[in-house]
Amino acid sequence: MLQQLEDLYKNALDEIGAITEKEALQAWETKYIGRKGKVTLLVRAVGQLPREERAEFGKRANAVKDELTAAYTRREELIRQRELAKSLEEGEIDVTLPGRPIPVGGLHPANQTLREIYAIWADMGFQVFRTREVEDDETNFELLNIPQHHPARDLWDTFHTTTPGVILRTHTSPGQIHAMRHFAPGPIRVILPGMCFRYEQISARKEIQFNQVEGLAVGTHIRLSDLKGTITAFAHRMFGADRKVRFRGSYFPFTEPSLEVDVECILCNGKGCSVCKGTGWLEIAGCGMVHPTVLRNGGYDPATHSGFAFGMGPERITMLKHGITDIRYFWGNDLRFLEQF
Ligand code: PHE
Repeated sequence: MLQQLEDLYKNALDEIGAITEKEALQAWETKYIGRKGKVTLLVRAVGQLPREERAEFGKRANAVKDELTAAYTRREELIRQRELAKSLEEGEIDVTLPGRPIPVGGLHPANQTLREIYAIWADMGFQVFRTREVEDDETNFELLNIPQHHPARDLWDTFHTTTPGVILRTHTSPGQIHAMRHFAPGPIRVILPGMCFRYEQISARKEIQFNQVEGLAVGTHIRLSDLKGTITAFAHRMFGADRKVRFRGSYFPFTEPSLEVDVECILCNGKGCSVCKGTGWLEIAGCGMVHPTVLRNGGYDPATHSGFAFGMGPERITMLKHGITDIRYFWGNDLRFLEQF
């Protein structure tokens, strides 16, 4: 039996050395060391040997089985390596292909404009002051010199909440009150950016939510010429150094006098086009000198203090810069739009 074992061992080793395929290797395993393999069966037959030969045979049989198992594992690995090399050569995997790109997001176009606006005002000493989007009626209207039932309220169609007196702010101007009460009686130079909400029929020019950037400067010697100079400096940084700027008289309850700011149309350079509706001018902001009543409500004495304020719409400015024709694109969440910026 020992001789039989040695013969099997030799044959098995000879055979495995010639195997190059997985299937053949599997067949070899079944034939020799599988559950009903020749070596396995022979090892099991150890009981038929005379008692004194059993130990020696058993020892050798185990060694043979171990070595054949090891030979199997080595061959299996070899075949695997060869198959890999072969498939690489045949081009099933091209390791030189570039990786799949990981899609990266970008800044929303409205935020890009906001950041541009922040940077320009920061250079002029205006810091960002954030205030709430959910406001009370008093701060959004009354303290800004717009009493209940005043017809000027019609300028802002308001979203009301189920709590009486609590609304979504219709403009960033209530931030003026928060800023003044925070800084009074000291000087102020802030911008107040953020979302505003209006209950309006939405159209290509109107959305129910949009950003505004409010500006406020309060001090002891602030005059209308400061307002005009500061806004003009901003417009030149934002739209180009030789862009013409003009101011028109207007009305807001919280500023006196009130003005509207136009820049020369950036698309047609003032010649007149569909975006500026043939006028050659684009309206970019409302502004004015802070009304004495508003100063008082903020904690300043209008006899000693004065200030200017302005409000502009970054989405509108973005539309003008890129010739975007519909404001609803901004919150429509359409990647075909957003990916262009
Ligand atoms: N709050 C005004 C609006 O929403 C804009 C404005 C701000 C006007 C500050 C004057 C001063 O239209």
